[in-house]
Amino acid sequence: MAAETKKTMEGLIDQLRSKKEQLRLGGGADRLARHREQGKMTARERVDALVDAGSLEEFGLFAQHRQTQLGMAGKDCPADGVITAAATIDGRLAHLASQDFTVLGGSAGEIHSKKVADAMSRSLKTGSPFVFINDSGGARVQEGVDSLSGYGEVFYQNVMLSGVVPQVSLICGPCAGGAAYSPALTDFVIQTRQAQMFITGPQVIKQVTGEQISAEELGGPDAHMVHSGVIHFIAENDDEAIGLCRRLLSFLPSNNLEDPPRLSSDDSVEPNLDLQTLVPVEPKRGYDVRDVICGVVDQGDFLESQNGFAQNMVVGFARVLGRSVGVVANQPSVLSGAIDINASVKGSRFIRFCNAFNIPLLTFVDVPGFLPGVQQEHGGIIRHGAKLLFAYSAATVPKIQVILRKSYGGAHLAMGSRDLGADCVLAWPTAEIAVMGAEGAVEIVFRKEVEEAADKPAKRAELIEQYRTMFASPFVAAGRRLVDDIIEPATTRRHVAQALEYLCAKRDYRPPKKHGLIPL
Ligand code: HXC
Repeated sequence: MAAETKKTMEGLIDQLRSKKEQLRLGGGADRLARHREQGKMTARERVDALVDAGSLEEFGLFAQHRQTQLGMAGKDCPADGVITAAATIDGRLAHLASQDFTVLGGSAGEIHSKKVADAMSRSLKTGSPFVFINDSGGARVQEGVDSLSGYGEVFYQNVMLSGVVPQVSLICGPCAGGAAYSPALTDFVIQTRQAQMFITGPQVIKQVTGEQISAEELGGPDAHMVHSGVIHFIAENDDEAIGLCRRLLSFLPSNNLEDPPRLSSDDSVEPNLDLQTLVPVEPKRGYDVRDVICGVVDQGDFLESQNGFAQNMVVGFARVLGRSVGVVANQPSVLSGAIDINASVKGSRFIRFCNAFNIPLLTFVDVPGFLPGVQQEHGGIIRHGAKLLFAYSAATVPKIQVILRKSYGGAHLAMGSRDLGADCVLAWPTAEIAVMGAEGAVEIVFRKEVEEAADKPAKRAELIEQYRTMFASPFVAAGRRLVDDIIEPATTRRHVAQALEYLCAKRDYRPPKKHGLIPL
């Protein structure tokens, strides 16, 4: 046998290395260069930036489609257009998929989707978060029903993982058609300024409804942050999206059986005197509740989610003495903090996420009520507002409530009141806890007295003051044990830290059931 045809281990290894190198080039050097010219990182660069150096364990690099029609016979599709892997992120195991737009536009064929579904299944079995980096033209048209079925598998896995491991979607390029439903089934969606998401694109919309709109206006990050509420974070570029993803994961446990990681902190609970002046005593003056949140949590570090949607409700993650908390707060500088449909949906979804992943809830209340209006009523504020009542009542994690100022009526209950299971209710001296605002109450109860008075405005003012003194203070509610303590604002951090400490072993149970029926 000739020496040159004899197989050697060295030769085989060389072949393997060069084959792997070729596959890792995805759609090839030219396509990769064009991709980068658009200000995007490649699929592999995104993965490398996301995971800890040297931790990547890829699986399925050699995977190939098996389609033979429509020009696909023998067509090389490296890794079938998606990188799937296990890796660590900040030292903790995660699984991921990253679509490679340079390979057939990152389109999802049968094998591509099977790889993604397999990575998800590994997430589930190992109790590790799943991160899906989307950059794709959607279902691979050449593979017809097989690609549709592949997506079905991914959606099914999204639902299996839901509430067991955190799922984060990064939208770094096109995410069109039914493909957009996978991110929608995940817990957090981060969209870059280079990305667009829609079910039907501008062309189809023009054909069907005659409406004209650009892809950016229809499905760019501003559209999804402000109007649809589909996304949770906007990133200027891929690098920022990856940084946000890492930061978000740092607040979360790896799965629903673990507590979130506790970071070391300086354990300082010194009084913060700024809190004494942040909230105006006059109930109608606005302020930014995020200043209060930052004045209470560790290093003023607050990761706000959906900061451009339903801004009358603020939600996000922070830490108190190194412990993760999910913060929910009314925002008095927007709609006076009144709760509308979008705020209800935003708040309740966030509460349910925190509850699923053992993250204590810290709620700051300053709410005049539910937003009045025909649009709100006909839009279903009854059904959507009920979601907040449901989410808080069903949540079994530690629930700490700080009533800053107004807390009126149904909205008082909907913000996670004592009656809905709050474990610790703290009120500032500015708190007004009542069935409704003093002005409204006087209109209903004392209308006759006001009408009959010689000086109507003076009588109304007197009665409003009388009502406010009688009910609109924290003392009546504290007397009924609806408030545990009335505290000085500067000491809020210390009280919250103590409550988290004594509630950290809390166990609370609900009657066995298949699942509750939150009003959708
Ligand atoms: C197969 C696709 C593809 C797809 C893109 N490509 N989308 N191949 N199936 N769905 C291929 C293109 O043919 C091209 O191949 C390469 O990817 C790059 O695409 P370009 O169009 O050149 O890139 P660009 O101009 O940047 O436009 C990107 C795009 C556009 C906006 C994503 O390609 C597009 O509109 N694609 C179709 C989007 C769509 O309608 N998807 C829905 C599919 S049906 P070559 O070889 O020429 O470079 C669906 C049903 C639901 O999703 C399924 C799940 C429930």
